[in-house]
Amino acid sequence: MSYEFILVHEELAPFVAGVQLNRPKELNALNLQLMSELRSALEDLDANDAVRAIVIFGNERAFAAGADIKQMAGKGAIDMLKIDQFSTWDSIRRIKKPIIAAVSGFALGGGCELTMLCDMIVASETAQFGQPEINIGVMPGAGGTQRLTKAVGKARAMEMVLTGNFISAEEAKEAGLINKVVPVELFLDEAIKLAKRVAEKSPIAIQLAKESVLKSFDSGLQEGLFFERKNFYTLFATEDQKEGMAAFIEKRKPDFKNK
Ligand code: CAA
Repeated sequence: MSYEFILVHEELAPFVAGVQLNRPKELNALNLQLMSELRSALEDLDANDAVRAIVIFGNERAFAAGADIKQMAGKGAIDMLKIDQFSTWDSIRRIKKPIIAAVSGFALGGGCELTMLCDMIVASETAQFGQPEINIGVMPGAGGTQRLTKAVGKARAMEMVLTGNFISAEEAKEAGLINKVVPVELFLDEAIKLAKRVAEKSPIAIQLAKESVLKSFDSGLQEGLFFERKNFYTLFATEDQKEGMAAFIEKRKPDFKNK
């Protein structure tokens, strides 16, 4: 399928696909079409057995500078309600395969929220994360008050959301928002490297492990523990569990079949 605002790379590395946000002149501002294309591409990759991990990236200057302000500026509340733009985000949240954001430059507003919708974040030293919606008379609408607070805690989330101040990649790392900071020329390579490490594992185990970690965001501890336990037991129905444990005992590398 061909898209206007994204580029799909089916094989960045063995079992690793990539989706590049591609509206460079607009700093990859996330208009409705881009988000819909992103959802469609991710759902296709999710269904593709040749893909075990996905990297989302922009370019050196911007991951994404937020939702498209020009597209939203004239809208009323009922227009926004009818457009229901965040249902696309809900679908992306349901992608089963691990997604890594490779971030350089601006990750602002919806751009920052999109990185938080991913499972891990690798950033270049030049990356800047922020929720500047307050500067344009609104507030974050795609998880910025929720996922950000869970990631970095109340004090820093309040400061970012109420002042619109950006934080650097180093600050984001120190706050627990992102996984790794690397020189700008390496941000994509490092994200691919991380994706390859994940893609070497049993895809079924990865899927259930991702689902279990995400469950912790919206359940109490006891419910989350039961959920985790069920997924743990379920994995004993897989050939990959037999192979993984046999390989450990026989001191060899496992050959996971996604079965
Ligand atoms: N929407 C639409 N267009 C955008 C955009 C956005 N979010 N961000 C940048 N652009 C456009 C600019 O309008 C400009 O286009 P023109 O050349 O046609 O004028 C182009 O991208 C380049 O941007 P700048 O000239 O502004 O570049 P800069 O280097 O001077 O500044 C910036 C960079 C600080 C990121 C600045 O562009 C900026 O502040 N952008 C807006 C950031 C923002 O407020 N994001 C939140 C959006 S709301 C949201 O995301 C809601 C939500 O929760 C989902």
